[in-house]
Amino acid sequence: MTLPSLPQSRFLSTAIPGPRSIALHAERVKQVTSGFGITLPVFIERAGGAILEDVDGNRIIDFASGIAVTSVGASNPRVQAQVEAQLERFSHTCFMVTEYDSFTAVCRWLNEHTPGDFEKRSALFSTGAEAVENAVKVARSATGRERVLVFDDAYHGRSLLTMAMTAKQNPYKLNFGPFPAEVIRAPFASPLRWPTGAENATAEALAAVEQILFDHGPETFAAMVVEPIQGEGGFIVPSPGFLPGLRELSTKYGIVLVLDEIQAGMGRTGALFASEHENIAGDITVTAKALAGGLPLSAITGRVELMNAVHAGGLGGTYAGNPLSCAAALGVFEAFEDGSLIENANRIESSARTILEPLKTSTAILADVRGRGAMLALEFADAGTLAPRADLAKKVAAEAHSQGLLVLVCGTFSNVVRLLPPLVIEETLLLDGLTVLRDAVLTVSLSEAHQPSSFSEAVAA
Ligand SMILES: Cc1ncc(COP(=O)(O)O)c(C=O)c1O
Repeated sequence: MTLPSLPQSRFLSTAIPGPRSIALHAERVKQVTSGFGITLPVFIERAGGAILEDVDGNRIIDFASGIAVTSVGASNPRVQAQVEAQLERFSHTCFMVTEYDSFTAVCRWLNEHTPGDFEKRSALFSTGAEAVENAVKVARSATGRERVLVFDDAYHGRSLLTMAMTAKQNPYKLNFGPFPAEVIRAPFASPLRWPTGAENATAEALAAVEQILFDHGPETFAAMVVEPIQGEGGFIVPSPGFLPGLRELSTKYGIVLVLDEIQAGMGRTGALFASEHENIAGDITVTAKALAGGLPLSAITGRVELMNAVHAGGLGGTYAGNPLSCAAALGVFEAFEDGSLIENANRIESSARTILEPLKTSTAILADVRGRGAMLALEFADAGTLAPRADLAKKVAAEAHSQGLLVLVCGTFSNVVRLLPPLVIEETLLLDGLTVLRDAVLTVSLSEAHQPSSFSEAVAA
């Protein structure tokens, strides 16, 4: 059955959540563990483009993309066609048991498109965390070393090793230890919060990284794992030169540089991979999320000599590179082929900055508007002290939600509202969503008792 296409416009038929969502949520509470959080308790009936239609008939603008997954839209026709055709043929064989060519085709595309002018091989898995773990396995196997360097504010997943690699305690790590050893953390060159000022961030952070390598012995590190733009940690774009500096340090000490492009990759930042903005290539690049438009698929792509250093049978997984997920990825690659989605990411950034940047001076609650392409964020803090204001981010998100705009909060201090619209979002819908968000910030700002009329004015005072 083909459903009529979903109108790409916001529409509220009830308060959010509506009565049917409230009833379904009550049942969920009776059946589902309370260990899963929820951003917006509405139940979705169908979704398409950048609209989520709930069971009460509300059409909500999607600035979340299922956490950076549905970049090609929530029901992309190319993805649908590929998956339907695959489902008619077979749904699973296990690639370690018998082969299918779509697995190879996805690996070929990744080998050809991932940054790095060297011969590559890829491996497919299901989740992002699983791929990060496998990147570490490959790096350890290839180098014979154990340690893994990670960064402040990093997020790499919820499995035990990736929790160890993730920085934020609550909710990710609380009560879940002990964690695997040999994970060492170093500073990330975060411009807004660098203690001696943004202009010093790159040089001082790189010096600290090198010192930490020395403290433990650089020859003990198998991998250095970094997000080219940090995701859950607060959409932090490192200060220029930091990533190339890490590239140099890893080469100097024979450490495998693993770029975790799980959230920032696949066109999200206005380039196919975020590392392209700084002209660097990882020895291993990790992708997931938008790779398969909503079906579970993750990958590691790296230098042939690393990827083939692992003994036969050392990598795998029952569902690794499942045929339906591979088919979906082939649909995603088709959608990226003409370059328009990457252009869209840049268009989204330009429209968003036009509407949101003036809020930095017209309100006194916004410390930063940052990001690249369609990976953008607003950071809320007290003017003058930069003390993080999680309460303001929460209020802005709640206000946006009540108006039918889905946004997510992130950040080590939970004080960042992030924008991750599907790259297919139409301009009118984007502008509507941005206006709702701007108004939400203004409403929350008005309810604050701050005296200064702008953040910069308050900082100067
Ligand atoms: C940068 C990064 N790495 C790893 C992960 C973990 O991916 P998954 O949730 O698919 O395990 C995420 C998920 O948000 C992420 O943003």
